[in-house]
Amino acid sequence: MDLGHLIPRSFKGNLRTAVRGEGVYLYDEEGNAYFDGCCGALLSSIGHGVKEIADAMYQQLLTMEFAHPSRWNNTVSIEAAEEVASLTQEGLDYVWFVSGGSEAIESAMKIARQYFVERDGNGSGKFEMIARWNSYHGSTVGTMGLAGSMGRRRTFAPLFKESPKICAHYCYRCPLNLKYPDCGVACARSLETEILRLGPESVAAFFAEPIVGSTVGALHPPKEYWPIVREICSKYDVLLVADEIMTGMGRTGKAFCTQHWNVTPDIICSAKALSGGYAAVGAMIVKKEIAETIRDGSGAFQHGHTYNGNPVTAAAVTATIRYMKKNNVFENAAERGRQFDEKIPALLDIPIVGEVRGMGLMRGIELVADKATRAPFPASLKTAAFVTEECMKRGLVIYPGTGQIAGVAGDQFLFAPPLVSTKEELDEMTGRLEEALKASAEALRSKG
Ligand SMILES: Cc1ncc(COP(=O)(O)O)c(C=O)c1O
Repeated sequence: MDLGHLIPRSFKGNLRTAVRGEGVYLYDEEGNAYFDGCCGALLSSIGHGVKEIADAMYQQLLTMEFAHPSRWNNTVSIEAAEEVASLTQEGLDYVWFVSGGSEAIESAMKIARQYFVERDGNGSGKFEMIARWNSYHGSTVGTMGLAGSMGRRRTFAPLFKESPKICAHYCYRCPLNLKYPDCGVACARSLETEILRLGPESVAAFFAEPIVGSTVGALHPPKEYWPIVREICSKYDVLLVADEIMTGMGRTGKAFCTQHWNVTPDIICSAKALSGGYAAVGAMIVKKEIAETIRDGSGAFQHGHTYNGNPVTAAAVTATIRYMKKNNVFENAAERGRQFDEKIPALLDIPIVGEVRGMGLMRGIELVADKATRAPFPASLKTAAFVTEECMKRGLVIYPGTGQIAGVAGDQFLFAPPLVSTKEELDEMTGRLEEALKASAEALRSKG
């Protein structure tokens, strides 16, 4: 297709053109249906073409499409904030709306710093933001320095400030060469070492994805991980920031993933499924104490975007959350997740499937050349892209990734069907996936 003046995600490659969406399917120009097995990038959780959301946005467009947030409040975003706060852990009460995930993370970085300055005075030395290798927190310059997604960062590394990092809980290839549970979750405990190394008086926050998304393919932590990092953060007066941009909004069977471990972060960043993919949105949700320190101090978060609390976006958020509540979408995600668990043994039987990971409807598969040694495929084989195309040929969209091994090797992919998928739809999706993986294994064996 001639893209004219458009800069696409890639000038190479051979992307199909999507023209329509309905339920769990996207349709190309020829009318072929593709099961949206990754919800775009884990956002189209209530499926495509939901009229109620479109109606709510349309009505808001007719009523008032915009009023600048520095000069006006609007009731639509107040209502949306109330809906968001109704889903979070107790105490996470204040919501700041932005236009996407990267902006939510940037907001969290800034509010973490401002909170300590307002609380302790201009002399506060707390500014360091610790994160993890094998993480993704966005594509802006600030979030790239924070995150540790090696391949994505290399070109831009001279532009950003590098945040201190600890390793991720990559148990399948433990960076510490340990084995769970004998390891005592040493990767979580290494946060304490890093805080002490930097000096607790300089550390403002620790950022992590509850389940690592695109960089490692639904890498879920041992159950002790989040309670341990919560305890360490509290001990050293460090804010715990959960990047729930992929994991939130019911993806793992609960509104926010940290709820599985009864952990309350100080800040949650959300985006993507917050509006079901119907509007560009992100949100930073902070503990009362953080918002009220600023409210009672300088009185303003020193940050702002033109589209903060945009009324049309807010209408989409409210309509999406109400739709999710009315249709028990989170409960369905949990149920479908249990249904998927039963398929894992069959998937693990496929020669190229090294590990099946994740929780609820956020799942990932790591592809290996040798199951026994866990050796990855040579990067030149482009295995993740190959498997993705095998899935596409069978009408299934997945979300591939590479480079989880030191940024230079490894193939994996995420799959995450709409949370409204029925039992039959999930069976259809896993059937297509299994078929594509078996065909890929066969083809890759003959390649080499
Ligand atoms: C965990 C995580 N954080 C942050 C982001 C950035 O969100 P956005 O692309 O909306 O800026 C993403 C996007 O994929 C993500 O998966």
